[in-house]
Amino acid sequence: MSSAEYPEALRERVDAYLAGLRFPSVAPQTSGLEEAMRYSLLAGGKRIRPVLALATQRAIGGDPDAVLPLAAAIELIHTYSLIHDDLPAMDDDELRRGRPTCHVKFGEDVAILAGDALYAEALRLLLTAQVGEPVGVLAAARELTAATGVDGMVGGQYLDVADVAPNDAEGLRTVHALKTGRLIGASIECVLLLQGMTAPATTAFRSFADELGVLFQIVDDILDVTSTADAMGKPQGSDERQGKRTYVSEYGLDGAQRLAGDCHRRAHEALARTGQDRAGQPAELEQITDFIFTRTS
Ligand code: IPE
Ligand code: IPE
Ligand code: MG
Ligand code: MG
Ligand code: MG
Repeated sequence: MSSAEYPEALRERVDAYLAGLRFPSVAPQTSGLEEAMRYSLLAGGKRIRPVLALATQRAIGGDPDAVLPLAAAIELIHTYSLIHDDLPAMDDDELRRGRPTCHVKFGEDVAILAGDALYAEALRLLLTAQVGEPVGVLAAARELTAATGVDGMVGGQYLDVADVAPNDAEGLRTVHALKTGRLIGASIECVLLLQGMTAPATTAFRSFADELGVLFQIVDDILDVTSTADAMGKPQGSDERQGKRTYVSEYGLDGAQRLAGDCHRRAHEALARTGQDRAGQPAELEQITDFIFTRTS
């Protein structure tokens, strides 16, 4: 599989904004905490979630730069989830974004705190720097916290580590929808909420977000088997080592690829239904959808 085009210009805006974020405190002795936070944050991820947020803003006719604080907040939360996901008590991985994981570099205690701090600083950023109608900012914050709580990423991570989801197709899809799908979906949904959009205008976007989120994790499961640590910047074979239930363990590689194809098709169909003209940059959300399907890292 070769990768589809990626909206690099949006990624560059996100990277520049993230690089400008600092996390000082009144006690200068916390600089080691800030160093650990920025070490993981600025290690160079794909930035899919914030780029999706910027692309969604453009798709509804807005200026992508106007949602940079929201987009960055989502990436801070994603980075926290990666730091904790890699901990010895969870997936026990030592490589992330091409670097030793946060706990390998700074110790488990500091890594846990760096994750905690990234979460809180994300909310602070959204609630202080994001311009918009207060009701829209609050709606976006409500969605972002829901997408990362028990009914979202952390709930999904619990189902994953405790292995308690129903042992059927729907159970596995639920794990993926919660642990990964909800935050990817929130990257789209929060932008719509910020602009005061509600159903039915958002219904097709929501279907798009749901399919894209599950697609993302199915491809992640496939790459864990087929890719290399060099390409991914994280260890290959982590799922098998941890005995994880994944789309590959359940359906085999061919089955997982077919199901990814189904999600990819449904995502495109939903995107077409969003009914927006997307006259400015019609290609960006389509591009991201194809990139997520064909990515190799
Ligand atoms: C990895 O996410 C964790 C999952 C939710 C599967 P990404 O593949 O988006 O990781 P980065 O941000 O590019 O490092
Ligand atoms: C984790 O899924 C999703 C998160 C919420 C971080 P994985 O455990 O499969 O993610 P990777 O493969 O380590 O990036
Ligand atoms: Mg995991
Ligand atoms: Mg993991
Ligand atoms: Mg994985």
